[in-house]
Parts: sequence; C-alpha cells; structure tokens
Amino acid sequence: MEEERFVGGSLTGEDAGIENSLRPHTLKEYVGQASVKDSLNLSIEAALKRHEPLDHMLLYGPPGLGKTTLSAIVASEMGQQIKVTSGPAIERPGDLAAILSNLNQGDVLFIDEIHRLSRSVEEVLYPAMEDFAIDIMLGKGPTARSLRLDVPHFTLIGATTRFGMLSAPLRDRFGMIYRLELYTPDELASIVTRSAGILKVRATTPEGMMEIARRSRGTPRIANRMLKRARDYAEVRGDGTITKEAANAALEMEGVDELGLDKTDRNVLATMMDKFGGGPVGLDTLAATTGEDAGTIESVYEPYLLQLGFLMRTPRGRICTAAAYKHMGRVAPATVQNAAQISMLEETQNT
Ligand SMILES: Nc1ncnc2c1ncn2[C@@H]1O[C@H](COP(=O)(O)OP(=O)(O)OP(=O)(O)O)[C@@H](O)[C@H]1O
Ligand SMILES: [Mg+2]
Repeated sequence: MEEERFVGGSLTGEDAGIENSLRPHTLKEYVGQASVKDSLNLSIEAALKRHEPLDHMLLYGPPGLGKTTLSAIVASEMGQQIKVTSGPAIERPGDLAAILSNLNQGDVLFIDEIHRLSRSVEEVLYPAMEDFAIDIMLGKGPTARSLRLDVPHFTLIGATTRFGMLSAPLRDRFGMIYRLELYTPDELASIVTRSAGILKVRATTPEGMMEIARRSRGTPRIANRMLKRARDYAEVRGDGTITKEAANAALEMEGVDELGLDKTDRNVLATMMDKFGGGPVGLDTLAATTGEDAGTIESVYEPYLLQLGFLMRTPRGRICTAAAYKHMGRVAPATVQNAAQISMLEETQNT
C-alpha cells in the first residue's frame, strides 16, 4: 500500500506532527510552481482591486506537492478565513448546505479529495458555485417544493490527486484549474534547507541537502520526511551535521536508492522488463501483474518515473526506456530502443 511506503507522497502519522510547522505562509515563501504562482498573483491582485472574492479554483497533482499549503496561502493573501473540509467528510447534501450557509462573505471553502463527493452532494454545490444559492427541498411527496436560499459569495478551492475521477460538470465550474508539478532537485534543496532551520537541525551542508533533494521524488512532503531521518541519523551516528554521507546512509537504511526509488518502483520496472519485454504494456495489465491499483500507479508512481525519463507513455501503452534498464543494471533489448524511436516519430508526425 502506498500509505505505508517511506517514499510514498501521502500523509503519514509521522509527518502529521511536523507538517504544520513546516508549511510556508506566503506565496513568496512557497518554493517552485512558478507558473501557478504567477497566475495566482495576478488573479489575487485583480480580485483585491475589484473587492471581489477570487474565482473558484481547482488544484490537482500527486500527494504531498503542496495543494493544502497553497490553499491556505491563497486565503491568507486574500485576507480571508479558510474553512477546511473534505469530500468523504460531507456525507449528505444537508451537510454541505449547512457548511455553505455558515460561511461569511469572501471566505475560502477548501474541499480536499473533492473527487470523493457523492453525486447528490455535488448537486448542491453546482448552484452554490454558479449563483451563490442553494435549493432546499421542503416537505415530501407531491406537495414537496424547493426553496432557493442565498449563500455568501465564497471561493471554493478543491484539491484532488485524481483529476480523472472528477465529474465533468464539477470540473467545468472552476474558473481556474492548476496542476502542480513535481519539484526539481534545486527547489527541493531549498525547501529542506528552510525546513532544517525550523526543525533546529544543528548543521547542514549543501551537499547533504542536495542528497535528500535528489532522492525525494520531486515531493516536498517526502523531502521533509527524509530530512527528519537524516537528522536522527546525524545526531546518533555523527555530530549532528547532515552531510552528504549522513543523508546517504540514513536513506539507504530506508531502502531508498540514489534516485529515491524503493522496492515498489523497482518491482513495477522489473515486471515491465521481465514479463513484457519492456513494453508497451497497458495500465490495467501492469496493475494486475504487479498487484498495485491502476489509479495509484497512474497518479502516484508514474509521475516520478516519467519525470526521470524511465517510462514513456505511448498510444499503445507504457514502455521502459533504455535509462530505466541502465538504472536497474540490465541491458535494454533492441525492441526498447525501437519502440522509443517509433513513438517519438509518431509524436512528431502528430504535431
Ligand atoms: N512549495 C512548497 N514550498 C515549501 N514547502 C512545501 C511546498 N509545498 C509543500 N510543502 C511542504 O510539503 C508538505 C506537504 O504539503 P501539502 O500538505 O500542502 O501537500 P498536499 O498536496 O496537500 O498533499 P495531499 O495530496 O496528501 O493532501 C507541507 O508540510 C509543506 O511544508
Ligand atoms: Mg492536502
């Protein structure tokens, strides 16, 4: 299960204690995601000038990339309160109606895991997003009638790791849709350097920070988790300084290789290589053979393997690249080189 992995992006009990203290509070402090920040800065400034609430906004991307953090920052840059809830927490339409009617003008309503809202709850959300109104049913049976109630102008921020699971009508009601990208090693190094200061790590070296950054799969939450392990290691086995060697040794103990891959990633790659000659292999077939959930492979494992250039998506399925073979200490069969070339040719022809 992805939740139990040391290099999983999802929140674990271990992270919960430090997560809040490590959250940046302003857009300036929020590292990376340059194009999202540029666009947000503009929208926020414009909304403030017009004294209007911000448009509804959807944030999506793999776990641990900063969706919750960014939502809180947006509310605070707008000078507004944020109310936090989640898809699974809103069970009945009445629950959402109650939340909406208790909002104040301009509030930000943050709904995490918004893809998990039930259809009947979603239906309450549509008129609320569009017309700032909810329709309440009075009575039952033939005498039932619906009553329209106004709700305050609010900004909905929805977050999801599974963009594909969002219904089209919901998706279409967001004025802004941002996809958060995996972070570069340089960005992650600056995130963990800042975190080290907050966590009162005795000392760090730039190489030590970079070592953590390179292994953290483009994900700030994983980087912060690794930092904690490296701190423990450095305090117990060394003088408390997180050097490259300390970071290395601490993370090797966790079964994470020098690129941040763990057993599960290597299993996915090895399965593709051994059972499918490196691909192309369809997502569902891959899921069935590795025993992992297709959605999890697509939204959690794959983004990082794609970023590393270890996987390619082709119209016929996923293929492993020669770089993946090299990392796994194997020789790439000729078919892999050909498949990559064919798919690149197809892409150039299509553009
Ligand atoms: N851009 C960033 N700059 C600095 N720190 C960040 C950034 N993004 C995320 N973090 C750190 O990573 C941690 C996880 O971020 P956050 O909880 O916002 O992720 P998420 O995308 O909401 O994850 P999930 O999908 O599990 O809800 C936070 O503690 C925060 O400190
Ligand atoms: Mg979150």
